[in-house]
Amino acid sequence: MFSPGVNQNVHRHKGDRCASCAIQLPAPRPERLPAAPVNVVPDGKLERNSVITKCVRLVTVPLLNVLPEPVIKTMMTRSSLDASTVVAKGGSAHALEAMYTRYHRTLFSRGPWHGLADSFWHHVVAQPRALRNRLKIVRQILKTETTRLIQECQHRGSSEPVRILSIAGGSSRSIIQTIVDLKAEGLEHPLKVVTVDKDQSALDLGARLAQEAGVSCHFHWICGSARDMGRLFPGKKFHLIEIVGLLDYLSEPRAVRLLKDALALLNKGGAVIAANVIPNAEMPFVHKTGWPRMIYRTPKDFLALFERAGFSNTEFMVEPLGVHCIAIARK
Ligand SMILES: C[S@@+](CC[C@H](N)C(=O)[O-])C[C@H]1O[C@@H](n2cnc3c(N)ncnc32)[C@H](O)[C@@H]1O
Repeated sequence: MFSPGVNQNVHRHKGDRCASCAIQLPAPRPERLPAAPVNVVPDGKLERNSVITKCVRLVTVPLLNVLPEPVIKTMMTRSSLDASTVVAKGGSAHALEAMYTRYHRTLFSRGPWHGLADSFWHHVVAQPRALRNRLKIVRQILKTETTRLIQECQHRGSSEPVRILSIAGGSSRSIIQTIVDLKAEGLEHPLKVVTVDKDQSALDLGARLAQEAGVSCHFHWICGSARDMGRLFPGKKFHLIEIVGLLDYLSEPRAVRLLKDALALLNKGGAVIAANVIPNAEMPFVHKTGWPRMIYRTPKDFLALFERAGFSNTEFMVEPLGVHCIAIARK
């Protein structure tokens, strides 16, 4: 369960408030961890800065941060299809898909110039790599948690479906991939997923991906707002709730309200999986791409949201590029 090399980024909050909340804590002892810790992705599978990348970034990141917005946008739009999608659709599921799917093709598949530009936008800039790291971590947590919940159902002799809610789920790529993984391992237990997003085109994208992956029978897509969580599902409970790519845009009162709604929608023994951006070196650049304003939260501030919402058992990890904090909060 505990994978060496990643565990220095795992931090556990249980009950009482932590005094320091430093990111680089000494690794907790494996035997004291719960059954499904957050550090679940094998070390080599997450993207990091190589020595060469670190050197290139010494010059390029400060430059990106000072260049004027029109120059940044023109460079991105003219040089790369993926970068132009990010500029045109910042903050949307479509922009994320452009970054998630970098490895679905070879680097130079769109020609040499495009390949050079993509090697910069995808592999020197931290944001796309950090997003892919976040996707992998969330997917692995979903898989571990879903497996645990299925085992618990089977232990009780219950054929009740495991129910997952994705709030602002966009394409739901993480959940689609999780179900594909579980099916490849012989999953038999019923699984039901509800994805809520305010953007119908994001839901259409997700429905197409689920169809292509052969898992669309598990999904129900709802065009709606996260504000309505408290009243969208009267009498219904979920085992897992994913909130990834939304809290970053919500003020503290709105984020706490949403987490309270999520807590009320959770079954006992269920969990919320959520993420938030951390203050990082590329913040001025990101804003100049046209991406909507985000609220950068330290892990300590992020975890405080869960405490205020009434969660008392929260763990988190910071992905290796230090851009996203991923938390799992259990009921
Ligand atoms: C950055 S994307 C994240 C998508 C997906 N969760 C992921 O991690 O790949 C943000 C998504 O949140 C949706 N969204 C933003 N505000 C929302 C709200 N108030 N209610 C529902 N969806 C919202 C957007 O339409 C978009 O699809």
